[in-house]
Amino acid sequence: MWEEIKKAIDASYDDMVQIRRHLHQYPEISFHEEKTAAFIADTYEKWGIPCQTKVGGNGVIATIKGGKPGKKVALRADFDALPIQEENDVPYKSKVDGSMHACGHDGHTAALLTLAKAFYDHKEELPGTVVLVHQHAEEYAPGGAKPIIETGILSDVDAVFGTHLWVDTPYGTIHTSKGNFMAGADRFEITIKGKGGHGALPHQTKDALVIGSQLVTSLQQIVSRRVDPLETAVVTVGQFESGFAFNIIPDTAKLTGTVRTFNSDVQELIIREMEKMVQSACLPYEADYEFDYFKGYPPVVNHEQEADLILNHASEADPELIAEEIPPVMAGEDFAYYLLEKPGAFFFTGARIDDHYYPHHHPKFDFDERALPHAAKTLLQAYRSYQEKN
Ligand code: NI
Repeated sequence: MWEEIKKAIDASYDDMVQIRRHLHQYPEISFHEEKTAAFIADTYEKWGIPCQTKVGGNGVIATIKGGKPGKKVALRADFDALPIQEENDVPYKSKVDGSMHACGHDGHTAALLTLAKAFYDHKEELPGTVVLVHQHAEEYAPGGAKPIIETGILSDVDAVFGTHLWVDTPYGTIHTSKGNFMAGADRFEITIKGKGGHGALPHQTKDALVIGSQLVTSLQQIVSRRVDPLETAVVTVGQFESGFAFNIIPDTAKLTGTVRTFNSDVQELIIREMEKMVQSACLPYEADYEFDYFKGYPPVVNHEQEADLILNHASEADPELIAEEIPPVMAGEDFAYYLLEKPGAFFFTGARIDDHYYPHHHPKFDFDERALPHAAKTLLQAYRSYQEKN
């Protein structure tokens, strides 16, 4: 049965490419993907596969219950595009001004739809239940994953897998890592509210510039003194604004910067320590402050056993595929939210066209469509391996 599903995926290659190219021509940016969601739902309807729409926004979820007992496993593909003007000269070029599928989410959708059809056609023999999660708004925080999870629709799922077509890695490869895989990237703004005054009469002021300067230095101690040295973290102050004249003590100082982490406990620790340091820097001067911390997506932390399933069994998905573990990458992904709730793994499906490729989010981005069946078959393999191991 598994071999037949794989054959069905290969046999559907032309349809898969057609779906991808259709979506590519009609991209919709994050949170505005109504037509794309309708296309996905219509495709399921055409195939007779029941699906739910408007899940947590524009999300579409189809569930296929197999004829044999087994685990419930979710497979996720995102479907939003980017506000980029496409510069490729291809027959399937974007027909929407200022919008482009410049990250490959059109391909993710085509691969998952094709896999869904193959699952459905073999559902009598299929162990377990497959939940096909078509997620909106990956590109723009707060993203689509969180609201989909918050509907509770995935609460009885046992595991979740997802892939990203990736042009930084060559065609014919699968890459992932056990544990930290993609970074969490946050932004902060600190405003010190002192009391300005004459440069010659500092004792009458609350010097926000001095407080801010001390803070820039003390914030560096979070990573060096508070974070476990075996963990990875960055705290960077990238901007410092204060003062406007040589003889005036300014009222305020504003510091903005970024925090990068791979572990949500470390992230929470950094937020707490930052606030403490801001408080204690202001205390001797009785100055006030505002501390705003904007969380981006949390880090993508793969569960070890599930990442192992990908690494150990990808070549069974397709003998062409070579799977390797890679060090974590600094890009972010809201797949992270699923992994906070359920065991699972996210992996890259190598899709580089040639050595002169354009990166993700570039106006000339494109990927090797021959990688589409690799993505579908490796997700299938993840489903299969999870059923067999659990
Ligand atoms: Ni992407």
